[in-house]
Amino acid sequence: MGMSEQKVCIETSGKILQSPCGPIIHGLEDVLVKTTSITDIDGDRGILWIRGYRVEELAAHGSYEEVAYLILRGRLPNRRELQEFSERLKASRELSPAAVEVLRSLAKAHPMFALEAAVAAEGAFDEDNLKLAEALRAGRYKEEEKALAVKVAEKLVAKIPTMIAYHYRFSRGLELVRPRHDLSHAANFLYMMFGREPDPLAVRGIDLYLILHSDHEVPASTFTALVVASTLSDMYSAVAAAVGALKGPLHGGANEAAVKSYLQIGDPSKAKEVVEAATKPGGPKLMGVGHRVYKAYDPRAKIFREFSQEYVKKFGDPQKLYAIAEAIEREVLSSPYFQQRRLYPNVDFWSGIAFYYMGVPYEYFTPIFAASRVVGWVAHILEYWENNRIFRPRACYMGPHDVPYVPIDQRS
Ligand code: CMC
Repeated sequence: MGMSEQKVCIETSGKILQSPCGPIIHGLEDVLVKTTSITDIDGDRGILWIRGYRVEELAAHGSYEEVAYLILRGRLPNRRELQEFSERLKASRELSPAAVEVLRSLAKAHPMFALEAAVAAEGAFDEDNLKLAEALRAGRYKEEEKALAVKVAEKLVAKIPTMIAYHYRFSRGLELVRPRHDLSHAANFLYMMFGREPDPLAVRGIDLYLILHSDHEVPASTFTALVVASTLSDMYSAVAAAVGALKGPLHGGANEAAVKSYLQIGDPSKAKEVVEAATKPGGPKLMGVGHRVYKAYDPRAKIFREFSQEYVKKFGDPQKLYAIAEAIEREVLSSPYFQQRRLYPNVDFWSGIAFYYMGVPYEYFTPIFAASRVVGWVAHILEYWENNRIFRPRACYMGPHDVPYVPIDQRS
C-alpha cells in the first residue's frame, strides 16, 4: 500500500475515534470492565464512596488500618478485628533479603523504579504468593485460596511502606531503621524514614493521605493490576506493574509534578501568568488539575486542602507552596477555559505541600500514593478473580499486508 492509500483514524469527539474497523473508545473512557462493590464515584457531583461510606466520613473518623480492612473485607472491623489486623500488618513489615538487595542496588534510581522492582523481588520469594498463583493456575479459587489471597494482599499492604523507607535510607547512605511494632502504619512509616519519633500532625497527614487514596475504582494503575492478574501471573507481579502505571505524571506522578511546579513558580503573584499559559494551544498542562471522572471539585482535594492549610498554619509556608497553590486555584476556578472544560484541582494539587514540609523529598510522594493504593489494587484483583477472564482487547490494524521481503543487501 502506498502513502496515498494510508488509512486514518478520524476523531469524532474527544473520546471516540472512527477507525476502518469501527469506533475506538480512546483511552477506554467510560468503558465498563468489571462490576465492583468497593468504590463508587459520582464525578458530576464530586462524591466518593468507599464500600458505601462517604470518603469524608472515613477521613474524619477512620484510620488507614480501618479503611484497609474495610476495603479488603467489605465491612468495618470491630475493635478486636482491627487489633488483630494491625498485628498482622506489623508482623509482615519486614522484607526478604532479595527485596532489600534490590532496593540497595537501586539506591540512586527514582524510588518508583526501585519500588516496582522490590515488589517483584519480594513476590518471587513469598511462598504464599507462589502457592496462590499455582492454585489459580490449577483452576482452584475456593474458600481456602481466597483466604490465602487475602493473606498475600495484607502482606503487600504491610511491606510497601518499608520498601519506600528503606530506599530513602539507602539513597542517602543512612543505616536502615527497622519497623517498630508499637507504631501505627502511618507513624511507623515516618519513623522508618527519618529514624525519629514523628510529629503527631505529620502522622495524621500521612494517615489522612493514605485513607484518601486507598481506592478509586479503575484508574490506569488498577486497570494495569487487573490486566496482569487476569493472566493468572501472581499478585505481586500485578502490583509491581500497577506501580509502573502509577509513576506516570498523568496519574500518580502528578503530586510530585505539582510541587515541583510550585517551587519553580516561586511566588503567588505569578499564578495568573502560569494559568494563562496552560490555556494556550500546546501550553503546559497544570499539574494537579483535571480528572477523567471528576467534573466537579475532587472531594479528596477538599479534605487535603484543609489539612495542608492546618499544616502550614502550624509549621509555616517558607517556600510559599500553599500560597502559590491557593493563588493558582483562584485563577483556575475563575478561568473560562477551566470552567468550560470542567477542570478543577484534584487531590494531587494539594497533597504534596505538607509532605514537602515534613521533609519528604518530592520523588517519594508518588511512592506514598502507592503505599495507600496498594489496598485498592489488591482488593480489585480479589474481586476480579471471583470471575476471572483474561483481558484481550483488539487493535485496528492500519498498516500494509503481504509486503514482499527484500534481502538486506538489496535494500536502499
Ligand atoms: N491543564 C490544562 N488543560 C487541561 C488540563 C490541565 N491540567 N487537564 C485537561 N486539560 C484540557 C485538555 O487539554 C483538553 O482540552 P481540549 O478539549 O481543548 O483539547 C481538555 O482539558 C480535556 O482533557 P483531556 O486530557 O482530554 O482529559 P483526560 O480525561 O484525558 O485527562 C487528566 C485527565 C487527569 C489526565 C488531565 O486532566 C491531566 O493531564 N491533568 C494533569 C495531570 C494530573 O493532575 N493528573 C492527576 C489525576 S488525579 C490523581 C489520579 O487519579 O492519579
